[in-house]
Order: sequence, then C-alpha cells, then structure tokens
Amino acid sequence: MNLLLKSEKDCILVAELLSDNRVLGMCTVQTLISTAEGGAVGLLEDLIVAADFRHQGIGAKLLVEAVNWAECQGLKRLQLLADKNNLPALNFYQKQGWNSTQLVCLRKC
Ligand SMILES: CC(C)(COP(=O)(O)OP(=O)(O)OC[C@H]1O[C@@H](n2cnc3c(N)ncnc32)[C@H](O)[C@@H]1OP(=O)(O)O)[C@@H](O)C(=O)NCCC(=O)NCCS
Repeated sequence: MNLLLKSEKDCILVAELLSDNRVLGMCTVQTLISTAEGGAVGLLEDLIVAADFRHQGIGAKLLVEAVNWAECQGLKRLQLLADKNNLPALNFYQKQGWNSTQLVCLRKC
C-alpha cells in the first residue's frame, strides 16, 4: 500500500465514515501501458467493503468513482480480475454493468 500511496499514476479510493474516522471500504486503480490500446489502461484492484456495511451502495459508489478517475486520466480501458468462485462479487460487478471477457488469467509464481 505504501508503494501505491507514493505513486503518482495510481489511485486509492476510500469510503470513510466521517463521524468516527472509520474506513468502510476501498479500491485501487493501477495503471499499465497497453500497446494494443495504444495508451495507458487501468486495473481495478482491492475492492472491499466492511462486512457490516455491505448492501448500502458503497461498493457501487467506489466503482463509479474509479471509472470517473480512469476517464479523467484518459485511460483507454479499465479491467479487473475476480475469482470465478466469488459469485457474490461476480453478481455485483454484473449488476454494475461490468462485462465478462474471454481472457484467462495465468500465473507463474
Ligand atoms: C463485492 C462488494 C465490494 C460489494 O460491495 P457492497 O457495498 O455490498 O455493494 P453495493 O451495496 O454497492 O451493491 C450494489 C448491488 O450489487 C449487488 N450485490 C452486492 N453484493 C452482492 C452479493 N453479495 N450478492 C449478490 N448481489 C450483490 C446487489 O444487487 C446490490 O444491490 P442491493 O444493495 O439492492 O442488494 C462486497 O460484497 C465485498 O467487499 N465483498 C468482499 C470482497 C470482494 O469479494 N471484493 C471483490 C474482489 S474481486
């Protein structure tokens, strides 16, 4: 998180309960270069809302702000990775208008 805080090309969004300084949720947008898109693109990461504050629209607002930030930065695409077993999150993203792709995620280490 410290690396993200120092980065000028990435973004950390926080939903905060101002009355008691409590963080209720967050997400990050990290930028990459896409040669296919011919410019900077974003990877949305770390979206989470505190369990006792879910289903109040906080996750949806964080997503909207992430998209706004990406548009303001001129990012040509915004994507995210989700565990295929995380059905609640997949349902949530679908409801927010995010579409599945045919991409498959591979990892080496
Ligand atoms: C996914 C997550 C961020 C959603 O946050 P949230 O603040 O509860 O979402 P919202 O209240 O903005 O949801 C908006 C709508 O999305 C849908 N939705 C949200 N969570 C859902 C769930 N668990 N199951 C089905 N639909 C869901 C609902 O239609 C919801 O509307 P509703 O409030 O009328 O039910 C939250 O459940 C979470 O932190 N999950 C654990 C972390 C996680 O899996 N993050 C994603 C990693 S890829």
